[in-house]
Amino acid sequence: MNILLFIILYFATFSSSTLIRRQDALTGFKPCSGNFPNAITTYSNSPNPLIEGQIATGRIAGKATVPIVNGALYNLTAFYEKQQTFQHIFDFCGIFVIPHGLTCPINGDYDFTINFPVETTVNDPINTSVTYDMTVLITNPYDINLSCIEGKLTVSYP
Ligand SMILES: *[C@@H]1O[C@H](CO)[C@@H](O)[C@H](O)[C@H]1NC(C)=O
Ligand SMILES: *[C@@H]1O[C@H](CO)[C@@H](O)[C@H](O)[C@H]1NC(C)=O
Ligand SMILES: *[C@@H]1O[C@H](CO)[C@@H](O)[C@H](O)[C@H]1NC(C)=O
Repeated sequence: MNILLFIILYFATFSSSTLIRRQDALTGFKPCSGNFPNAITTYSNSPNPLIEGQIATGRIAGKATVPIVNGALYNLTAFYEKQQTFQHIFDFCGIFVIPHGLTCPINGDYDFTINFPVETTVNDPINTSVTYDMTVLITNPYDINLSCIEGKLTVSYP
């Protein structure tokens, strides 16, 4: 009886945590509406909230149904109360692929984890947190949309 209860609880706990993990693989981000052939399956930042001026770790995984080629862009746009607050455009192959000892084009499943500095600007607020609406867009040259997710990202400003 106790063993049965244990087994039931064990499986209940195991399956619900697996479900939560699966639902949460994008840490609250969702696919953008529109036509984006390459699914992003995992997206996370750590620490979460990010801390201004510190080194953070970011993970992105997905499926390159359309190969991601040299010159592809990783484009982060942040909005606060519908106003664009900042935008960072990076070379996708340069920041994700080459540090893993690989080269573009990337075909099929990929999974990259990188460390990056959370930038500091003179206009940053102090002693508060700000939650931005982020759009994460991956494009091939020139302006060919591949992937897009959007969601909330909080940055803590010490
Ligand atoms: C970056 O992403 C934003 C928001 O999705 C978009 O408006 C802008 O055109 C993109 N810029 C480039 C260079 O891809
Ligand atoms: C930081 O903000 C908190 C809450 O808003 C406040 O209680 C605290 O005094 C602030 N600290 C400094 C150093 O301004
Ligand atoms: C690509 O996606 C972005 C973000 O959703 C959008 O602003 C842009 O219009 C799209 N471009 C094309 C050519 O569909």
